Amino acid sequence: PSIEAMKIALKVAHVEPCRACRYPESRGDLTILLSHIVLGCKFVCSAVNKAGLAKLIGLAGETNVQGEEQKKLDVLSNEVFIKALTSSGRTCMLVSEEDEEAIFVEPSKRGRYIVVFDPLDGSSNIDCGVSIGTIFGIYLVEKNGEPTLDDVLQSGNSMVAAGYCMYGSSCMFVLSTGCGVNGFTLDPSLGEFILTHPDLKIPTKGKIYSVNEGNAKNWDAPTAKYVESCKFPKDGSSPKSLRYVGSMVADIHRTLLYGGIFLYPADQKNPNGKLRVLYEVFPMSFLMEQAGGQSFTGKQRALDLVPNMIHDRSPIFLGSYDDVEEIKALYAGEE
Ligand code: AHG
Ligand code: MN
Ligand code: MN
Ligand code: MN
Repeated sequence: PSIEAMKIALKVAHVEPCRACRYPESRGDLTILLSHIVLGCKFVCSAVNKAGLAKLIGLAGETNVQGEEQKKLDVLSNEVFIKALTSSGRTCMLVSEEDEEAIFVEPSKRGRYIVVFDPLDGSSNIDCGVSIGTIFGIYLVEKNGEPTLDDVLQSGNSMVAAGYCMYGSSCMFVLSTGCGVNGFTLDPSLGEFILTHPDLKIPTKGKIYSVNEGNAKNWDAPTAKYVESCKFPKDGSSPKSLRYVGSMVADIHRTLLYGGIFLYPADQKNPNGKLRVLYEVFPMSFLMEQAGGQSFTGKQRALDLVPNMIHDRSPIFLGSYDDVEEIKALYAGEE
């Protein structure tokens, strides 16, 4: 690696000094947990890169609790993260998109953290080699005794960290522990993530909107009005560009870097939208706010939601501060 890259690598060690000041009692458990998550991401990245060669493309043959046909990589990634997380010795409960029930870690391996995760996001893009990812959120259980579902059925405000890894043209790990957002790029020759995007901030306003417009016929009025205004702005500004990958991680990553808005709204068929609160909506909302953007459900700030069940869904509008303000105004006008 070049000297510049080494300088950047050295910065990794100084990413978040503010955490140590805020939590002087901390003993490095979160760091150990994160290093196990990073290991899981490297493993999945390597599997994704050779999916076509290693016969990892195609269906696994089972259907998950969401009613989706699982791909081989969904199943493999889920197994990888369950192993990586339990072997950290720092988790007590896991919630995965691919498992109907929460997983309670056996007492001998138990720690104080709960991890919620989407092991492989963007399943429909696996077989054509388009960017996919992993999403996670972390909670700390402060009480003693057995963990219960109530420890995770809390508002997104109680998340202590969240992030995603994107398996794209490069492999990127984006993380927030509540002190802003940092982005790391995997250097395949080192096998390490290097801090390439310190203190990421989303532009206040963007020129891109991102939504599955194939659902437009079933949208409610505020969503329809908003998308219409992206295409035919009334204030004389230029129309926005449409970009939609269909992998939330990739669409959010682009939104974070370039600005703009990502929408997965409610529609007549799916009154709660499609994306899942615990392991899609909350982690991405946490990151978006930490980067200076906003996240809104159509009714409230997304992180204020309290899920009733682990696989609950919610409509979601998130991205640049000013763009989300516009959609909030349209929903406020409906009341
Ligand atoms: P997953 O692959 O983890 O089930 O998530 C799929 C999600 C998300 O990645 C994406 O934003 C959305 O589904 C795309 O849905 P549509 O195909 O309905 O646009
Ligand atoms: Mn899925
Ligand atoms: Mn997903
Ligand atoms: Mn998934």
